Amino acid sequence: MKIDLWDPNSFAHGHPLAQYDWLRTNDPVHFQQEPAGPGFWAVTRFQDVWDVDRNFQAYSSEPTIMIQDPLGGQNFGPYKMMLMMDPPQHTAFRKLIRQEFTVPTAADKKPRIQELARQIVDAVIEKGECDFVSQVAGEMPSYVIAELMGMPLDDGRELYKLTEAIHTTAGGTPSEEGASAVGKMFEYGTQLIAEKRARPKDDLATKLLAAEVDGKKLDDVEFLLFFLLLIDAGGDTTRNLLSSGMIALLENPDQHRWLMEDLPGRLPSAREELLRWASPVIYMRRTARHDVELAGRKVKEGDKVVMYFGAANRDPAKFAHADRLDLSRTPNEHIAFGTGPHGCLGQHIARIEIDAMLVEVLTRMKNFRLKGEPRWLPSNFISGPQVMPVTFAPAKRAS
Ligand code: HEM
Repeated sequence: MKIDLWDPNSFAHGHPLAQYDWLRTNDPVHFQQEPAGPGFWAVTRFQDVWDVDRNFQAYSSEPTIMIQDPLGGQNFGPYKMMLMMDPPQHTAFRKLIRQEFTVPTAADKKPRIQELARQIVDAVIEKGECDFVSQVAGEMPSYVIAELMGMPLDDGRELYKLTEAIHTTAGGTPSEEGASAVGKMFEYGTQLIAEKRARPKDDLATKLLAAEVDGKKLDDVEFLLFFLLLIDAGGDTTRNLLSSGMIALLENPDQHRWLMEDLPGRLPSAREELLRWASPVIYMRRTARHDVELAGRKVKEGDKVVMYFGAANRDPAKFAHADRLDLSRTPNEHIAFGTGPHGCLGQHIARIEIDAMLVEVLTRMKNFRLKGEPRWLPSNFISGPQVMPVTFAPAKRAS
């Protein structure tokens, strides 16, 4: 079995499930070489991933959660994104936006998110064909972030396109495109700062500009890094869940039928199983703060330790018949949103987005079929189709 979890080609058709299976059984904390770096420990069993993600005392999120250390152009000097901070600094920053992402705040957004889902399907429904990724699945998260930050919806869509450039080059291959995408996001964010300072509104951007950490207001760079994180974290993750989720349903027609027999009642368990199945975030990296033993391996201070969420989510020691899509699975303690201090802050909003989109797509886009082979994102960081041509029965708009 050829094992290479660094090579983006390993992820060119989705998660490399055969490699994951082999690793969990034979070498669950595997030392993976990388072409331009010291190599890293690849962690693939559920319990080990869980333990690493929660143990921030031993495994740091600094200097980065990407496998490659930041290159010159991607370094923000003393500044860091919240995702790459450790407590107590991380705790203080997360507190600034936590309120916007609670279960009740997310629930308040539900009617608007459902309305957006209707409009997104309306925009393609008469045609009977589309690229599902860019025209349907990708629209929702970019609109939701735009509304949250108080930006026009079209701007949200443009910014979201840039996240793909950032993620695609994240494997360590030439990062000029990624760096230029980050630059464009910062340009937009800088205009947003000026706009929100001139005309404050009831939105997250305005709140962030007024927020204080240790009695000090966020400066522009701190704001911009929050902005980048929110656009980046909520964009192609949700998109990829929807696209990969639809492929899973097409490949498992019995499960699809079972779901449609009682869509409102079965959607919650189905959505969690699709999250386990698709695991849109492939990995998060940590760095050992001191020598530590992990599943019998001696990890040295400074070593990179990489948690593979998709591998953990197929671990038979955690999930019965782990390699079977079972939309009725309960409980379903998957780790697609991570866990511990950095556990996905947007998960409650993501669930509402996913449910709203699945209801619209499954009930209105009848005879949904692939028109060609989906093309997957060539990334070792984010998993999902990049292009997915589909056909369906044309129908009337809902509004
Ligand atoms: C299916 C959709 C999504 C998936 C699979 C996902 C997955 C993840 C994962 C794996 C992490 C890292 C967790 C860890 O290190 O343990 C994360 C962090 C984060 N996510 Fe999500 N995410 C999704 C949607 C969203 C959305 C819609 C938003 C915002 C609206 C969002 C905002 C964030 C933020 C801000 C963080 C950083 C949290 C921190 O550092 O404290 N995510 N997400």
